Amino acid sequence: MSIVYLNGEYLPLDQAKISVLDRGFLFADGVYEVIPAYGGHLLRMQEHMRRLESNLQAIRLQNPLSESQWQQIIQKLLTENPNQGGGEDKYVYLQVTRGVAAKRNHAFPEEIKQTVFLMVNELAPVDKEKLRPGVAAITLDDIRWKACHVKSIALLGNILLRQQAHDSGAAEAILINEGQVTEGAASNVFAVINDVLVTAPTGPRLLPGITRDLVIELAAEHNIACEERDFSEQELLSASEIWFTSSTKEILPVVKLNGKPVANGQSGPIWEKMIDIYQACKIKLRSGESR
Ligand SMILES: Cc1ncc(COP(=O)(O)O)c(C=O)c1O
Repeated sequence: MSIVYLNGEYLPLDQAKISVLDRGFLFADGVYEVIPAYGGHLLRMQEHMRRLESNLQAIRLQNPLSESQWQQIIQKLLTENPNQGGGEDKYVYLQVTRGVAAKRNHAFPEEIKQTVFLMVNELAPVDKEKLRPGVAAITLDDIRWKACHVKSIALLGNILLRQQAHDSGAAEAILINEGQVTEGAASNVFAVINDVLVTAPTGPRLLPGITRDLVIELAAEHNIACEERDFSEQELLSASEIWFTSSTKEILPVVKLNGKPVANGQSGPIWEKMIDIYQACKIKLRSGESR
């Protein structure tokens, strides 16, 4: 049984309980983060903490813990939850909600004591060979709200879109907002258009993914032309490569889009280059070099 953290206590998962009046349960009134840990080392912890801070501000909630308190809790959970499968990679899930109010009311309660929950799960090892076959994707109309930059626990739109992709035999949906590509249901999207790596600019239409930022940074360091700009569904359909990025997927090639092969239906040369760079980054992190 894994050990989780809930409101100051470390507990076996089945003993962690929250009130039905928690606003996370009633209203999805909260935010979350997912942070990968390779060999016990957190990838881009500071960036995750910065995004958490700005998400909490966006929903007008104070950060209940200092960065060193978050660090301490996460390190303890990583130590107390050895992987059952023998692998050494994990991911940390953390969630902050506006807490428990005396009764259900949309307006914020006067006294707020945030609910803080963290758990650690095994992250199946991801390597180039596993990723290379790629996945199928479909394009779908982005039905979500106008603040997609907030990593909100209200994921109904995202899960309905992901399920629609699954129902059609695809692994993920690529979302289209007024003709422009925004992101995946749980990932960011990159496309290679005329030999340039392109991804949508940050803003309210998409989550500023930590993996997205890292890929942009790595592209700059390795002379891979990369642009943050709007691009249309039409451009996506003619792209020579398409990738999803996320903390748990890393960089996943899309080889089939809307039932048709992307280029020759195989992962492309720029992905081959980028995944090597990304994996090298993980190896450095495992040996304690932060990124
Ligand atoms: C909607 C959405 N966009 C993008 C991402 C990628 O973000 P990150 O790279 O920080 O995992 C996620 C991750 O879950 C997501 O849910």
